Amino acid sequence: MKQSETSPSGAAVRPLRVSRVQSPLTGTTVVPGDKSISHRSLMLSALAKGTTHITGLLEGEDVLCTADAMRALGAVIHRHADGSWTVEGRGLGQLQEPADVLNMGNSGTSARLLSGILASHNMMSVMTGDASLRRRPMKRVIIPLSETGARFMSREGGRLPLAIQGSAEPKALEYRLPVASAQVKSAILLSGLNAKGETRVEEPVPTRDHTENMLKHFGVQISVEETSAGGRIIRLQGGQSLKAADVIVPGDPSSAAFIVVASLLVAGSEVVIENVGLNVLRTGLFDTLREMGGQIEVLNQRIEAGEPTGDLRVKASALRAVDVPAERASSMIDEYPVLSVAAAYAEGVSRFRGLGELRVKESDRFASTIALLEVNGVRTSVEGDDLIVHGTKGAIPGGGCVGTHMDHRLAMSATVLGMVADQPVEVDDTTFINTSFPGFFELLNRIGAGLAA
Ligand code: S3P
Repeated sequence: MKQSETSPSGAAVRPLRVSRVQSPLTGTTVVPGDKSISHRSLMLSALAKGTTHITGLLEGEDVLCTADAMRALGAVIHRHADGSWTVEGRGLGQLQEPADVLNMGNSGTSARLLSGILASHNMMSVMTGDASLRRRPMKRVIIPLSETGARFMSREGGRLPLAIQGSAEPKALEYRLPVASAQVKSAILLSGLNAKGETRVEEPVPTRDHTENMLKHFGVQISVEETSAGGRIIRLQGGQSLKAADVIVPGDPSSAAFIVVASLLVAGSEVVIENVGLNVLRTGLFDTLREMGGQIEVLNQRIEAGEPTGDLRVKASALRAVDVPAERASSMIDEYPVLSVAAAYAEGVSRFRGLGELRVKESDRFASTIALLEVNGVRTSVEGDDLIVHGTKGAIPGGGCVGTHMDHRLAMSATVLGMVADQPVEVDDTTFINTSFPGFFELLNRIGAGLAA
């Protein structure tokens, strides 16, 4: 155990030993609010005129960092006793210079999206984060946002801490994304709100469009055009004011993913997860698990605050191997660690293609996912950016100690693996689960996991 690493709140590491679950998972549950939508709801409401009421906001540490940052920029943000939040926005161009360094904790989404807002406001700010975030690449936003006229000073390699002198007269950008990244796309769109003229972003592969959806929800005119090559071009005119609009945040499909995979793998399980966001640019995992033979049914499909939402009924299923095409990666980019657990339990050899972006997540998830499997006796191989997982047909040996490297999704994936492995699995640190999924263990225990957490 590495005592030197602490959680974003400074708490000591919390290791966990996970043993095989003895009885089926059953019941009806809800997962916490969508992380991507929660960040955007706080940022856009702070830029809007008027008061926005948010229900279902994820109260994970990543989102709380965004809330603190928007407060430091002058928004008045309250949490109410019923768990809802209100944000009194400052209005576009009206943010105040933060008096201190903005701490983004573990959250790449906070850091990258906020860079777009800060670049287009004429003030000086400094941003930092925890050891994981300070390792992650920021050049992907610094390079395009510098064209607005903003100036950036970072550590070597474009790493945080980052000082930003926002532009007095931000220029509108025209940019084609070199990597599929909703964070980069969003940073550019957000910078364009306070710029003169038309901002145009082209993405070769569609990525989650929560920023576009929520901008529309806040009254911003934005056009989205599909290209003949399967990409998208998004355009918006700068200077449009945002109008406060209440937001209902659906459950996070990336959090539901862990409950879905656990319910598919633990024999005899049947679990309903209510109120899950089902935006098609997020649901690649559920499509993939169905291709593997997973029984996942969508009930009560509806639209809530511009986002498709529904309930998922999941029944334990015998899974077979799958070949996941690279084009699907952006719709399930955060789900490969837990998909790898499903593939390890399935029959046959699975291949996940085009996973280069996994190397720059909260950990190097390409390496940490391989280590998660190998240390528990599951064979893997690598060909370029493809990961190959040799399924065990329900016989994952387990018995390994998993290094989670400050990565919440690694810790949750390791827990799911331990729940179905033959020998108990040690997870070196579970504290980072609070960045996205507070109450993860309590939820699993309510549906019958019997974990000692
Ligand atoms: C996110 C985009 C994705 C994802 C992250 C959240 C967002 O990152 O991995 O967890 O909210 O826009 P990239 O844009 O780096 O792919």
